[in-house]
Formats: sequence, structure tokens, C-alpha cells
Amino acid sequence: MRHLLSPLDLSTQELEQLMDVADDIIANPAKYAESCKGKKLATLFYEPSTRTRLSFESAMLNLGGSILGFSSADSSSAAKGESVSDTIRTVSCYADICAMRHPKEGSAFVASRKSTIPVINAGDGGHQHPTQTLTDLMTIRSLKGHLNNLTIGLCGDLKFGRTVHSLINALVRYDNIKFVLISPNELRIPDYIREDVIKANNVPFSEVSQLEDALPELDILYMTRVQRERFFNEEEYIRMKDCYILNSEKMKFAKEDMFVLHPLPRVNEISIEVDDDPRAAYFRQVQYGVYIRMALILKLLEITV
Ligand code: NCD
Repeated sequence: MRHLLSPLDLSTQELEQLMDVADDIIANPAKYAESCKGKKLATLFYEPSTRTRLSFESAMLNLGGSILGFSSADSSSAAKGESVSDTIRTVSCYADICAMRHPKEGSAFVASRKSTIPVINAGDGGHQHPTQTLTDLMTIRSLKGHLNNLTIGLCGDLKFGRTVHSLINALVRYDNIKFVLISPNELRIPDYIREDVIKANNVPFSEVSQLEDALPELDILYMTRVQRERFFNEEEYIRMKDCYILNSEKMKFAKEDMFVLHPLPRVNEISIEVDDDPRAAYFRQVQYGVYIRMALILKLLEITV
């Protein structure tokens, strides 16, 4: 039985196959409509979510399966003090596969140890978010046609942003990738990503604080929200929250074929005027998230269509 705890749990070849299946789902949705008939997906969400939880649910429903779950810790027995291990043993009796989001780093890993069904990490604290990465890779591959030879700017809260950590982990395996890490000094990428992932894989990178300076060379700009819930004090958050605001004026510095991605939710970091720019790809990214999660559910349930 396979789980998905980190993007590295899938080889680049398996990622390609997943994206190929997702492309086939886009082309032939009817072919997949009953492929998970009789199967159940549980969504165990101890932290807020719109896209990740609903896209998993939408994915399973598109495959003809059913869904069950909870969308906050308050509405589960976690509020009574139940451990993640006991919850997953219970859920293993009710469902065939589960997606779990939890504020503590490593929680999906803990769950996977006791689970008898595949566990998908839907975000563990400031650590990893592998299915957002699948979504991001699928979006980049669909828009650019390839995942090699790209200069990728990651902008915003690189310290706490788990989507950034997972995406970097995945992208260092492709050829001729360059990162431009754009953040205020206080929100720089953690050492374990800079040293053990980027440098250890000999991937060229620069760290800058000005978005405008970085923009002209980028093929992809990955914007992120300042992660309010992971700050130790509110004043610090307020000082940081508007550190970057991408607007139409700044988009003039970017290449004609640069795409803007964002895992969403957006707060202030992208002005709504940018939404009408053909290079704004964040809502297309949301749509790709459903198809790639459909492909992932099929893979982990070992269903071939
Ligand atoms: C992200 C997350 O939960 O880490 N959202 C998502 O899943 N699309 C990004 C964020 O919350 O900023």
C-alpha cells in the first residue's frame, strides 16, 4: 500500500504518468465517471481549507465514488483529545483512502504508520503539501509544455509556506531549473530547504528582496500569502502582510510568456486587476488540481481505467 506524504514519494516517471492520466481525464471525462464506484474517500481536515478539501471531494465524486469526513478539529473527536493514530485506525474501518490536513508537521506520517488505507498528506503545518505540488507541476507542464529549463520565482512567505517547500523538493529533480527566492529577510526559505534540497542538488538560485528586480528573468512567478496562522505574534504579521503586492504596473516588467501561479487563498499579494491578465494562471491552476487529484486517487487505489 502506498501513501503520499511528500512529493518525493513519487518518482519523476510516476509524476509524468499521473499527469498523462490527468490529461486523459480532461480529454475523456466520461471514461472515468464510474471508475471508483463503491469506493469511499475520507477527508480529515483539522485546519481550514477550501480548495484542497473540496477538490478532493469533487475528484472522488467525478470518479463515481463517495465521500465522508470532517472539516475542522472542533467537529471531530480531536476536540475530546483523541490522537491522530486512533482517529486513523477508526477511519480505516470506514473508508478506502483518506486525505488529511493537520497543523502539526509530521502528522500525516504518524497517521500512515497506523493506517490500513492510503493516506494523502493534504498539508502538515509549515512542512509539506504534496498534492498542491502535483497541481503546480500539472499547471506548469500544461502551460509551458515542459518542466525543464525554467527560471522560477517564488515570492512571499518562503519560511512558513509549505507549498513552496514541497514545490522546491519536486522541481530540483528536473534539468536546468533556476530559483529566484523573493522574500523579506524575516521570511526567507528555511535552511533545511536551502542547504539540503537546493544546494545539495546543485540547483542555481538567488535570494532577493525586490520583486521588480527579479521579474524580467522569470518564466514562472509563484506568489504566496503571508501565513498568518504560523506567526508567533500578530504585530509581526501585520508588519509583514503587505510585503509584496503584484499589480498591473509590476506585470509590465515580466516576460510575455511568464505565468503567475498562486496556491490560493490570496489575501493582498495579487491585485484583482491582474486577474484579467492572460498570464494570470491561478484559477486555471485550481481546475488542474481536480484532474491531478483524480489521477492520484486512481493510482493509490491501484485502479486502471
Ligand atoms: C495553501 C495551503 O494550505 O498551504 N492552500 C492550498 O492548499 N491551496 C496555501 C495557503 O494556505 O496559503
